[in-house]
Amino acid sequence: MKHKRELIFICTGSDCKKSGGKSILKGLKAECKQGPLKGSLKLIKTKCLDMCKSAPVVIVGDQFCKNASIEKVLEKLKKS
Ligand code: FES
Repeated sequence: MKHKRELIFICTGSDCKKSGGKSILKGLKAECKQGPLKGSLKLIKTKCLDMCKSAPVVIVGDQFCKNASIEKVLEKLKKS
């Protein structure tokens, strides 16, 4: 059986970093190492996605997550 890996793009542009992007990245890295999501996520850091007004921005699969937080990202992961 093929292993499904969800792609997560995290903006690490300056605005997103300032408004919490860094802690989201840290939190998601921790999720990748333990718990039910272990090994099922691929985190990709991106440059500015040109949506700074909605910072921090995270893309989960094919969905945008504006004003993201760890909880919001995990919620979207559960739905996808
Ligand atoms: S810094 Fe993240 S969208 Fe611009």
